[in-house]
Amino acid sequence: MAEAPRETVETDVLVIGAGGAGMRGAVAAALSGARVTVICKSLLGKAHTVMAEGGMAAALGNVAHLDSWEAHFADTMKGGKLINNWRMAEIHAKEAPERVLELERWGAVFDRTRDGLIHQRPFGAHTYPRLAHIGDRTGLELIRSLQDVLVHTPAVDVHMEVTVASLLTSDGRVAGALAYARADGRLILYRARAILLATGGAGKIYRITSNSWESTGDGTGLAYEAGAQLQDMEFVQFHPTGMVWPPGVRGILVTEGVRGEGGLLRNKEGDRFMEKYDPERMELSARDVVARAINSEVLAGRGSPHGGAFLDITHRSPDFIKSKLPSMYEQFLKLAKVDITKEPMEVAPTIHYYMGGVRVDAETGATNVSGLFAAGEVASGLHGANRLGGNSLSDLLVFGKRAGEAAGAFAGAHGGSAPIDSRQLEQATERLLAPLRRPHGDSPYRLMSELQEVCTKYAPIIREEKGLREGLEKVLELGGRAQLCGTGGPNGRAFNPGWHTAQDLHGMLINAEALFRSAIERKESRGAHARSDYPRLDARWAELNLITEKTPDGMAVRAVENKPLPYELTEVISQSFKRYTPEEIS
Ligand code: FUM
Repeated sequence: MAEAPRETVETDVLVIGAGGAGMRGAVAAALSGARVTVICKSLLGKAHTVMAEGGMAAALGNVAHLDSWEAHFADTMKGGKLINNWRMAEIHAKEAPERVLELERWGAVFDRTRDGLIHQRPFGAHTYPRLAHIGDRTGLELIRSLQDVLVHTPAVDVHMEVTVASLLTSDGRVAGALAYARADGRLILYRARAILLATGGAGKIYRITSNSWESTGDGTGLAYEAGAQLQDMEFVQFHPTGMVWPPGVRGILVTEGVRGEGGLLRNKEGDRFMEKYDPERMELSARDVVARAINSEVLAGRGSPHGGAFLDITHRSPDFIKSKLPSMYEQFLKLAKVDITKEPMEVAPTIHYYMGGVRVDAETGATNVSGLFAAGEVASGLHGANRLGGNSLSDLLVFGKRAGEAAGAFAGAHGGSAPIDSRQLEQATERLLAPLRRPHGDSPYRLMSELQEVCTKYAPIIREEKGLREGLEKVLELGGRAQLCGTGGPNGRAFNPGWHTAQDLHGMLINAEALFRSAIERKESRGAHARSDYPRLDARWAELNLITEKTPDGMAVRAVENKPLPYELTEVISQSFKRYTPEEIS
């Protein structure tokens, strides 16, 4: 018999993850009358949300009066190469302004225009200056403001440093979650009427990433195991500008705000190479285009000394740079001994964001598992094949609120949580505890590091069939070894990093397998998914999303037709396409 959990927590809505989407969702669920428990694997306030530094996109029209929800919608769809869930893109564009104003009422101290309005800066592929921002610390301010609201909202409990190992279901409905507390390793059974996943992305499956240690794809892994569908897992975003040198800081984000404030990209010959790749938008082209451009320059031998490009903002005054980009100034000075008011930065693409994730209903964030909801980076649909910078912070506010409300309503409509299936709980407990019984089994660190190498090498910016197949084979082989991994040493359960890594590895392997299988399947180049063997957009694929699901024979990927755009929205897009150049649309 497996060990029984030492503690049972009963709640109406369980929110897993405490970044922007989780906190906004928790507040919404509580305000709808539910008792809410928020679990975070780290400490409250330490979320990857802070890595969206440059701002949150919303058509407030404070700087460009012509901006509108229609223009924001069209930019988002065009950036996503039209396979976005158009209803999500519509809701997002319409509701983002109110969510930003709400955040302001909740205490976020935005930069201001001369008239005292929220200032908005330009960002890649947004037609107008649209990013409400707080210097280059927007995500951090968002987290601080939401955290303040959260801790003052009655009926919300926060459990920190708790890791969820499995979701539990009963007759197709979510019933709860098995988790453990890192401080002492005790097992906790959460029973909930509804669960909201807000766990972020899986950037840590790559070696060079802007993501922190938490971003191991837990939500997608948990949802997949519980029977939820994943969608478009081939679309992983390389942010064009991460730090490159020294090696210890490689991948740390260099905000797109630098280019928004006029930063220029140059190769080692001093050329502004974006002229060749997108002469109209130059440095403010879409992320996929800029990342591929830097990659091409490096491959052509025109890269910077450490394999990237130069990003130069020295033509701006030191005071301007320090006030608009204070974090960048400090980050380069302290970590790279580079004074960005005097010298260019060296930058290269870094894994930043997952467009793919759990397939959700546009209005509510509901998944196909009854009572299970998802919002933020863990959910897919809004961004299609490529996310525009700044759309993630507004995404998590808009859809965090909606999913929290829907989860609260679901809990209200169901008198109690679904029964716990004791066999399922026992199996989940067995899987969770197994690495502790094999202290000297294969090291989970080694396996994680090998997985990161595999994803980096075989699913890079430009992919091709042979490499993807080789990568998939290696992921499956690592999956086999992970079944027998141990903890890497004979430690107890309290703050046992090996045991914790073994849990992370489980979700990472699911994400990596889904990435390779979907990338093999999509035989075209679209947005962040670029293939040398299928270098063009293929109109047939414009109508298809790829669904990943668990079957008795293992993971399966299949194409489903996306819902056709209604006439009015097609018109909105074609009107705005008149503003775009042919290169931007193709
Ligand atoms: O570059 C940045 O500041 C990142 C923003 C985002 O990912 O939305």
